[in-house]
Amino acid sequence: MSVIRIHDKEFVKTIPAEEIAAQVKRVADNINRDYAGKRPLLLGVLNGCFMFMSDLMKNLELECEVSFVKLSSYQGSETTGTVTEVIGLSESIEGRDVIIVEDIVDTGLTMHKMLEVLAESNPASLAIASLFLKPARLRVSVDVKYSAFEIPDRFIVGYGLDYDGLGRNLPDVYDVKE
Ligand code: IMP
Repeated sequence: MSVIRIHDKEFVKTIPAEEIAAQVKRVADNINRDYAGKRPLLLGVLNGCFMFMSDLMKNLELECEVSFVKLSSYQGSETTGTVTEVIGLSESIEGRDVIIVEDIVDTGLTMHKMLEVLAESNPASLAIASLFLKPARLRVSVDVKYSAFEIPDRFIVGYGLDYDGLGRNLPDVYDVKE
């Protein structure tokens, strides 16, 4: 059993790099099939998506473009609650087939809000490709069209995901040790 320490916590290796590669390839195959004849724009959400985006794109065999955004959350008025701002979207997505590329959908609140914000720009279609999905944690309904892994309600690091800034460089994925 491979155990590592990050800050104050121990993590156990649960998903080896080879298994990640196989699932990312499966997602790419589905996108290749679903978007045949189209030219999707893959829109990565930084920072967590960078490894997933890279490996996903290497497996895409159709014409595609890539761009990245960052999200910032702040507390709006009482009626609006938390507001998510999408920062850095430099190109127009009007009429484009947009695939949001995300590291993990947890409560779903981030993706729910992002879909709402992007829909205002009238893309031809909007879909989510997330490396991980924690179905038990979902608090809003979000259609995650492509997910590489559905995982239980546990905190994970590695392959782009961090614990307080560290662990993104790990090629494998680790679960926090209870
Ligand atoms: P949501 O709005 O709750 O779906 O939040 C999604 C974001 O929370 C992700 O983009 C991650 O930045 C972060 N997150 C949620 N679960 C984990 C985890 O297990 N490991 C690392 N980051 C996580």
